Amino acid sequence: MADQTTSEAYENIIVRRQNRVGIIQLNRPAAMNALNSPTMAELLAVLRQFDRDDGLGCTVITGSDRAFSAGADIKQMAQASVVEMMAMPFLDYWDQLLHIRKPVIAAVSGWCLGGGCELALACDMIVASETARFGQPEINLGIIPGGGGTQRMARAVGKALAMEIVLNDRRLTADEALRYGLVNRVAPVDSYLAEAIKLAADIAGRAPVAVQLGKEAVNQAFELLLTAGLRDERRLFNALFSTEDQKEGMTAFVEKRAANWQGK
Ligand code: HXC
Repeated sequence: MADQTTSEAYENIIVRRQNRVGIIQLNRPAAMNALNSPTMAELLAVLRQFDRDDGLGCTVITGSDRAFSAGADIKQMAQASVVEMMAMPFLDYWDQLLHIRKPVIAAVSGWCLGGGCELALACDMIVASETARFGQPEINLGIIPGGGGTQRMARAVGKALAMEIVLNDRRLTADEALRYGLVNRVAPVDSYLAEAIKLAADIAGRAPVAVQLGKEAVNQAFELLLTAGLRDERRLFNALFSTEDQKEGMTAFVEKRAANWQGK
């Protein structure tokens, strides 16, 4: 069969279709693919559109070779109050990924941090390039992960390592991520995306309803205690926006200086 490829332009993402695989590329290179509300809105809209499209069976989300995503957009959140954070639909985007019925594979190269790592963790599989670096560096900003990271990272790599990642900004190389079960496979930087698309094409070629129900069933294994954990995480994440350290941490990042922690 001849390769059928089409592409569509959005503001923050590039969308392609290659036969039965939908490909979404995060496209904010000047901000290391930081995830702001418009980017997440576009991403979710396209994932939902793909879910309704019988011509597609599996999706790949990718970034650039340098950065899958450096996390939630710090500049968008830096001055937010706890009330503004609770009112903002921003964190809901990560929750809504749970309701995408077709499988989603993250093709990750370079930085995969914070909300970007949580986006990859919310996908069903991860194919990493040898240069991929995974981490939850929120602690450096005086906050904790808020897009499911504490819950999904603990389930993916176990409590001991998750504690180091969340409390002490431990970063994982691609090989470590493979060893600890965070990613499915590692490939050279010039072929990780092709590997991910091939995996997606294989899955997209399988029985569509069985694939969707298989995804639902596997996810159910992690769902039982997940919802309560996510709710708690959200409450604590939002509460941190009432601390001076959150303001200091994010302001220091924007001003490119070391943060001066007050513990209050
Ligand atoms: C906004 C960001 C950003 C982010 C990078 N940039 N990460 N902008 N939000 N998360 C911007 C920088 O400000 C800079 O813009 C440009 O991208 C290039 O980044 P540099 O720092 O100059 O690049 P480099 O020295 O190569 O370092 C790359 C990096 C570093 C290691 C990824 O940028 C970094 O540590 N970023 C922050 C990572 C982080 O803390 N993520 C967690 C965010 S909180 P200018 O304009 O200066 O050129 C989070 C909470 C999740 O994700 C909550 C739930 C979803």
